[in-house]
Amino acid sequence: MVHIIDHPLIKHKLTIMRKKETCSKDFRENLDEIASLMAYEVTKNVSLREINITTPICDTIGYEVKDNILIVPILRAGLGLVDGFKKVIPTASIGHIGLARDEVTFKPFEYLCKLPTIHEDTNIIVVDPMLATGGSASYALDMLKKRGAKKLTLVCLVGVQEGIDLINKDHPDVDIYLAAKDEVLNEKCYIVPGLGDAGDRIFDTK
Ligand code: PRP
Ligand code: URA
Repeated sequence: MVHIIDHPLIKHKLTIMRKKETCSKDFRENLDEIASLMAYEVTKNVSLREINITTPICDTIGYEVKDNILIVPILRAGLGLVDGFKKVIPTASIGHIGLARDEVTFKPFEYLCKLPTIHEDTNIIVVDPMLATGGSASYALDMLKKRGAKKLTLVCLVGVQEGIDLINKDHPDVDIYLAAKDEVLNEKCYIVPGLGDAGDRIFDTK
C-alpha cells in the first residue's frame, strides 16, 4: 500500500529542496524537517503499553512506546532523514545499509551492512529520499528479511510509479510512505521533476 503524506508544510519544504539554487545547508535542513513531519505520520500505528505514573496531583495511567523501533537509512542519502526521525523517536536504534547505484546498469551494489539483532517484532523503518527504479529499496528490504525482519515500512521523499510497482511486486507486505509522487524517470533513471542527486545535494559532492 502507498501512502502519500499530503501536508502543506511538507509541500512547502519539498519545493525548496527541488529548486536547483537551494544550497546544501538549506537542502539538509528542509530534509531534516520533512523527516520529522513524516515520522509523525509513519508512527501512527506504533504499539503502546500502559504504565502507572504519578502526576503532581495524583496517580494515573500513562503510555509508553512498546515497539522496538529500528531506523535503517540506505546510505548515503538516507542519512539525511535519520536525525529528523530520531527527534520524534529518540529511543529508536539505527542500522546502516550502504548501497550505490551503478551508473550504467542502475542496479544497486552493496558496500556496507551494520545492523543490530533483528527480532520478529522489530518495527523497522527503512529511509531513503529517492524511490526511482526501486532497485535499491527492494535490495535493502531483501537484506533485512534475510536477517529475520517481519515488520517493515519504507519511507521515501519522492517516488515514481516504477519504483512503487517494484516494491509492491517484490515486497507486497511493505507499506510505502512518500511525500510526493513524481511523473517519470529520465534516461539516466533520475526522477522527473525530482530534486536531482539527493546524496550529492546533501553532502555537497560532485
Ligand atoms: C540514490 C538514492 C537511492 C537510489 C534510488 O542513491 O538515495 O538509494 O539512488 O534509486 P533506485 O530506486 O533506482 O535504486 P545513490 O545510489 O545515488 O547513492 P548515494 O545515496 O550514495 O548518492
Ligand atoms: N537517485 C537520486 O539521488 N535521484 C534520483 O532522481 C534518482 C536516484
